[in-house]
Amino acid sequence: MINEKMEKAFNDQINKELYSEYLYLSMKAYFERLNLKGFVNWFNVQVQEEHAHAMGMFDYVHERGGEVELEAIEKPETKWESPLACFEQVLEHEEFVTSRINALMDVADEVKDRASLSFLNWYLKEQVEEEASVGDVLATLRLIGDDKKALLMLDKDLSTRTFVQPVIG
Ligand code: FEO
Repeated sequence: MINEKMEKAFNDQINKELYSEYLYLSMKAYFERLNLKGFVNWFNVQVQEEHAHAMGMFDYVHERGGEVELEAIEKPETKWESPLACFEQVLEHEEFVTSRINALMDVADEVKDRASLSFLNWYLKEQVEEEASVGDVLATLRLIGDDKKALLMLDKDLSTRTFVQPVIG
């Protein structure tokens, strides 16, 4: 049976993951407006990944005999100054999520929940990958500057990203 404090921490994180899904869906809409279909595809994969992250925790809490109570999802921003500004926010957001996963692991440590620690290791590794892949796009956007042709080339690159259903835990 999952500890009450651990259960609450997972419930909070499920909300954060669903917010991530919502934020990236809003960013996807922004790139639809710009007609940059490769970026749209990139965010579409991101949306599915965040949903999988939330559901991984949703299922885990139940597996441990706990309860999930969903809270309201915060309204995300809807507009960005530029693709660069948008990706700066993505990186900032992923760094925030990493700090939340670390906090969740602190709770698992505190209540001596080794099963949750082991489960959360997957999320920790995933955050390293997420920050790296976002950092790559961000670095390219910084190089691109105002070069529209280079932006279209990046857009083409991003159109090849595909979603692979993760095996969590
Ligand atoms: Fe679920 Fe992008 O972290």
